[in-house]
Amino acid sequence: MKKFVSALVIAATMTGGAAFAQDYKNQLKARQGSMWVVALNMGVLGGMAKGEMEYDADKAMAAAHSLHGVSMIHFASLFPEGSDGAMIEGTTAKDTINSDMAGFQEKWDAFGAAAERAVAEVGNGQEALGPVMGALGGTCKACHQDYRIPQE
Ligand code: HEC
Repeated sequence: MKKFVSALVIAATMTGGAAFAQDYKNQLKARQGSMWVVALNMGVLGGMAKGEMEYDADKAMAAAHSLHGVSMIHFASLFPEGSDGAMIEGTTAKDTINSDMAGFQEKWDAFGAAAERAVAEVGNGQEALGPVMGALGGTCKACHQDYRIPQE
């Protein structure tokens, strides 16, 4: 079986085609879903930071806890070799993730640290949100820049 799978991987590599996306369907759902939980909660904190949404300490804390919870997921393990956008369709993950797992992990840890800071600070009032959002947003950008295929 292992030999058979290797042969398939080699064949996929050789054709360079977008083959076998279905093999990683669950990983794609899990990692993209994690990103959407992050994005939605960033939206809550961002809305309050900009004053588009009334500040509510409980809601801000709920969002921060959600971010922190997602940051505890071992994100890197959702990116098995061969599941990047050069190999399969339906993902914007760059092949640099697998060639530089340590760097990718570092970026994820930076997000975790910013999420921890969010938990500590977002309950302190509306004015605490700006700096927290700045720190969090910087970690999205830093990772996407190196490990995500740019979006047109
Ligand atoms: C350690 C790296 C890393 C960090 C940190 C990170 N992302 Fe991502 N993000 C990715 C990768 C890789 C993808 C592509 C996943 C895929 O398509 O398989 C992605 C995709 C996304 C997507 C698109 C999901 C989809 O359905 O295609 C959104 C939205 C997103 N990220 C939001 C964020 C936000 C907001 C933050 C910061 C608060 C963030 N990300 C932090 C690596 C990261």
